[in-house]
Amino acid sequence: MISFDSRRKIFNLSNEEYSYYLHVNKLGYLIHLYSGERLDDITLERVNERYIERYAYFDGQKEVCDESYYFSGQGSLFECGANLTSDLRGAYAIIEHTDKSKLTDFRYYSHEIINGKVNPEGLPHFKIHSNSEAETLIITLKDVKEEIYLNLYYTIFKKKAALVRFSKLFNRTDKSIFLERLASIQFDFVNKNYELISIHGQWGNDKELEVTPIGHSKIVVNDNHGGRGFRQNPAIIIKEKDANYDFGEVYMFALVYSGNFKFEVGLDEYDQGRLIALINDENFRYEVKAKETFVTPECVLIYSSKGINKATQTIHDFTRENLLPEKFALKERPILINSWEPFMFDFDTEKIKKLILDAKELGIEQVVLDDGWFGKRNADNSSLGDWEINKNKINLKEVIDFSHKNGIKFGIWVEPEMISPDSEIFKKHPEYALCDSTKNPTLLRHQMVMDLTNDEVINYVFEQLKNLFDNYNIDYCKWDFNRYFSEIYSSFLGREKEGEIFHRFVLGSYKLLDMFTKRYPNVLLETCASGAGRFDLGMLFYSPQIWGSDETNPYSRVMIQFATNVFYPLSTIGAHVSASNSLSMQDKIIISAFGTYGFELDPAKVSDEEKKQIIEFNKLVKQFHHIVTLGDYYVLSSPYKTNFASWMCVTKDKKEALVFNFNFKREQTKGRFIRLKGLNPDKYYFNSLTNDVYKGDFYMKVGINISAPLKEGMTMLFVIKEVNTIAKTVLNHKANQVKREKLL
Ligand code: GLA
Repeated sequence: MISFDSRRKIFNLSNEEYSYYLHVNKLGYLIHLYSGERLDDITLERVNERYIERYAYFDGQKEVCDESYYFSGQGSLFECGANLTSDLRGAYAIIEHTDKSKLTDFRYYSHEIINGKVNPEGLPHFKIHSNSEAETLIITLKDVKEEIYLNLYYTIFKKKAALVRFSKLFNRTDKSIFLERLASIQFDFVNKNYELISIHGQWGNDKELEVTPIGHSKIVVNDNHGGRGFRQNPAIIIKEKDANYDFGEVYMFALVYSGNFKFEVGLDEYDQGRLIALINDENFRYEVKAKETFVTPECVLIYSSKGINKATQTIHDFTRENLLPEKFALKERPILINSWEPFMFDFDTEKIKKLILDAKELGIEQVVLDDGWFGKRNADNSSLGDWEINKNKINLKEVIDFSHKNGIKFGIWVEPEMISPDSEIFKKHPEYALCDSTKNPTLLRHQMVMDLTNDEVINYVFEQLKNLFDNYNIDYCKWDFNRYFSEIYSSFLGREKEGEIFHRFVLGSYKLLDMFTKRYPNVLLETCASGAGRFDLGMLFYSPQIWGSDETNPYSRVMIQFATNVFYPLSTIGAHVSASNSLSMQDKIIISAFGTYGFELDPAKVSDEEKKQIIEFNKLVKQFHHIVTLGDYYVLSSPYKTNFASWMCVTKDKKEALVFNFNFKREQTKGRFIRLKGLNPDKYYFNSLTNDVYKGDFYMKVGINISAPLKEGMTMLFVIKEVNTIAKTVLNHKANQVKREKLL
């Protein structure tokens, strides 16, 4: 997969679908040659360096001009842009050197090609199951001035059009240097009239897609909130303007990181593009002491020559197979019910026991006790950090035993990275809060962030979690994070290190999550951040699912899930049926079935008719679970372009599929044909919408007319199932006798 042509100094990273070529030029710069569909060989001539000027420089005495060589920093596509040199399009690294200079210019030093993969220490990462799955190119660059080295890691996977990148800096001088910026990936490209797709959002409207043309003004997609990032998500697409869900060239980039991040992208004056992904360099200044190293998060590049759907399928597969905790990644998750929306802080032992019984009756498999079971917490203004059970309110042992006796799993909510000023631990250790108490710190949701840059605090929090999880037989944990950072200060790190707080905090969170998941490998973890803030590949390394949004109104839900689905597997998106009365129970269930399915309502308040529906659907959802969570996802109709959202999931063997539609607006007079995707054109399939059997080819070319049955605000779900051609007529006949609702 990776080869090096030592004569021409060209590296070729190729698998069956994708090729990436780079080259070491005469001056030792790493030149980007090609990225795209598999290409067997490349020529150096005129491929990439723009040949704009002669290469001339001043050697301290006189001008030296290499007549045989033309080079300009602006004229080439690089792998690692320098700072304060003739390339001014955005640096890969900015280092304050031992002499205070920030000129940062790395050139080729050596390289190594290995089987398998190298992981960034202390950070979440893509995993391999065997060394034959991937190969890694490690290129070591050296700073032109000092003993500072930079490793660039490129891992290519045999079976996926994916390249995983990260960087590691080595300070081999005998003094500290200060890192002001270090990228995980730089991707220079020839302009093909690209546009950018990013996700932005806020509480209650967690994710929305946004399309921006890539022009000569630099676009920045970033977050600087410290970790609860709603504003923008660390995953983007750049694609040819004409590319759509099914056609055209698409690149997807996603950082495996949960803190402040940044993507920069734009064109230079020659219409060459540069994309850089990094830990946000705003308020970032990191001391790398003599002989120490600094490692960046991973960034994955996914390539598709066949539109967005293909890129989505690749990142879904890759995340499920190589990132999520293995124990849960491909497994069915229990149907859960959460106490938050029905009870908020108002519950006791009997109420939860009743919830367990009611849940059991409905075929629900796990009850989650949300916020309010600890300290003196009866509102959101106290006790975070005091993870002692409030025995006046709940007898946790009794409740858990009762749950297990009834065959129901039991889960609990925690928010370990937070501290309330009104808590015992804050009285004893105000320095555990990551805030500057001299600056009237803003209390968001009456709370502050724990100083996880400090191991003492990590250990304190872990001991608290141990008290709970060692002594109670808990099956699931909802790990919340409900505020962003402000007025930050760490009395542990001191003023000098203010530029390190954000990143060190993320490392501390990962350390805590690592300790927790190693000690409790059987506890199913679901992270959350005021809904779906901090929804990223970093968190998914530890928790196989993340709460999709506090907004459970189905209209908004469809949009939130639609945007989330583009980058994240459906099995990772917590999607619950709430008591919202804007749609019918059936419609709400159908939407939630396309995520990790569960409930946020009081079953005691549900009508008998609705109960029947829930029981029936819970069985169906389990039956179809593998299609949604392990199948290939296709967008059929985007709600950004039409008045309805339509998607489908197809099993890998193409034998079963589920088709989802949601109607935002009734357009009675418009014909709506949705053409299905991903089926085998030569096989016959039964569909439960019209109870007919047609060839895959027909479904994919002609489509199905969904206009008539779809009223405003209505969902539609139907099953596609491969049938034996010989049995076609019989099945068609039989199917017609079965009511649609029964078969869905
Ligand atoms: C956040 C979560 C909710 C719930 C509350 C509890 O807002 O998103 O689901 O857990 O916290 O305080």
